[in-house]
Amino acid sequence: MTLHIGDTAPNFSADTSSGHINFHDWAKGNWVFFFSHPADFTPVCTTEMGRTAQLAEQFAARNTKPLGLSTDTAEEHLKWIADVNDTQHTNLHFPIVADPDLEISKKFDMIHPEESDTQAVRSVFIIDPELKIRLTMTYPMNVGRNFDEILRVIDALQTGDRCKIATPADWKAGDKVIIPPSITNEEAKNIFPQGWEELRPYLRLTEVK
Ligand code: BEZ
Repeated sequence: MTLHIGDTAPNFSADTSSGHINFHDWAKGNWVFFFSHPADFTPVCTTEMGRTAQLAEQFAARNTKPLGLSTDTAEEHLKWIADVNDTQHTNLHFPIVADPDLEISKKFDMIHPEESDTQAVRSVFIIDPELKIRLTMTYPMNVGRNFDEILRVIDALQTGDRCKIATPADWKAGDKVIIPPSITNEEAKNIFPQGWEELRPYLRLTEVK
């Protein structure tokens, strides 16, 4: 199944390292960082799980719940979490979905057969409080994700929603933002009373809080 930006994230019920969840009930009202992994007890995954745990306060500040997935059982996840905590010097509290029969991985198109028939690639779904998929990224098994980028795109999506803006290349929270071309100058006067810098009629920069 191919999932697109704007689709409602599919629902599922599953065991996790923190008990059984119905995904929609667990997620609704929060942003969710849903990220998949090939397998427990693998080196790249261990560092990614540790990094996510270390960033718990950063995710909470963005009203964002991390949710991992690996194609192993909840019992294996619990043993692996002990290793993650030990080697990455952290305390992992977010749930990791157990998906030994690949049902959820297939629903979310996390199985890329040219990489593996039995293990998920490194997919990222950023899902909003209305359960809409807002951003996807896919990494191969041998490349760990950049967690500064994960936090940055959550900031960009949330700032975009709050301020009706778009964000330029390499934007970081606090940088200037773009007034989208769909907003006329007349409309922009009301929405952005602070004014803007017009480099071209289609390229207007402003500042938002
Ligand atoms: C890893 O997580 O380290 C890994 C998993 C599968 C293939 C390559 C690396």
